[in-house]
Amino acid sequence: MAIGRLLGIGLGPGDPELLSLKALRLLQSAPVVAYFVKPGREGQARRIAAPHLLPRQKELRLEYPFTTEVSLSDSRYHEQMHQFYDDSAVRIAALLDAGQDVAVICEGDPFFYGSYMYLHDRLAEHYDTEVVPAVTGMSACWTAANTPITHGDDVLTVLPGTLPASEMQARIPSSDALVFMKVGRQLPKIRAALQQAGRLQRAYLVEGGSMPEQRVRRLADVPEEEIPPYFSIVLVPGRLGQR
Ligand SMILES: C[S@@+](CC[C@H](N)C(=O)[O-])C[C@H]1O[C@@H](n2cnc3c(N)ncnc32)[C@H](O)[C@@H]1O
Repeated sequence: MAIGRLLGIGLGPGDPELLSLKALRLLQSAPVVAYFVKPGREGQARRIAAPHLLPRQKELRLEYPFTTEVSLSDSRYHEQMHQFYDDSAVRIAALLDAGQDVAVICEGDPFFYGSYMYLHDRLAEHYDTEVVPAVTGMSACWTAANTPITHGDDVLTVLPGTLPASEMQARIPSSDALVFMKVGRQLPKIRAALQQAGRLQRAYLVEGGSMPEQRVRRLADVPEEEIPPYFSIVLVPGRLGQR
């Protein structure tokens, strides 16, 4: 019996029309569709894929043991997430060994801050694997803000909002354009770092880029106490009008 293939399928940032033809073809080719998801939620990848799933496809929900309840600096976070990804890889390996292809669907691009990578790290050297790239969340966000992000030789830096404040502040001055991922509860820290660098007035907060709930505001206009949703990005465009 042939061994199944592991498919890491990027679905893009939310708008169903931003799904590639290749993603659609491979998604529908697999007997099993797997995705990471918070307990009790549908999950963003499942939501994007929903109109394309076929009745004959089985779904495998990989439910995170926790999301924001345990802090990144807590050693339990790394131990338990490591175990969770090990267990998830074992579940998928069993299906691959049984000859079934498994499509792991991912919001945005699988190799850009996506949980799929933790399966890829564990399985790609043992199984035939194909990854489909996709439009990232940040592309959808700068498009939503209707602003070019980099011109000419602008340097773009992508920073996780979870970085310590000092590291975040150190990286801002050498960058022309900035993207902050994983914003949520980190927004006050990001705002303070941009204010200190004199970049706050040029920053945008984009929620749900290309999703039905998309919202774009100047960060300076967002109330200081507001905590935006998980799918939010802060961006600062690079140098405008240079040529
Ligand atoms: C685990 S990362 C996944 C990134 C994804 N693989 C990508 O290619 O963009 C999740 C973070 O990406 C950002 N993000 C992804 N898609 C987004 C979207 N459509 N709108 C706003 N933020 C998004 C948010 O900052 C969110 O906290």
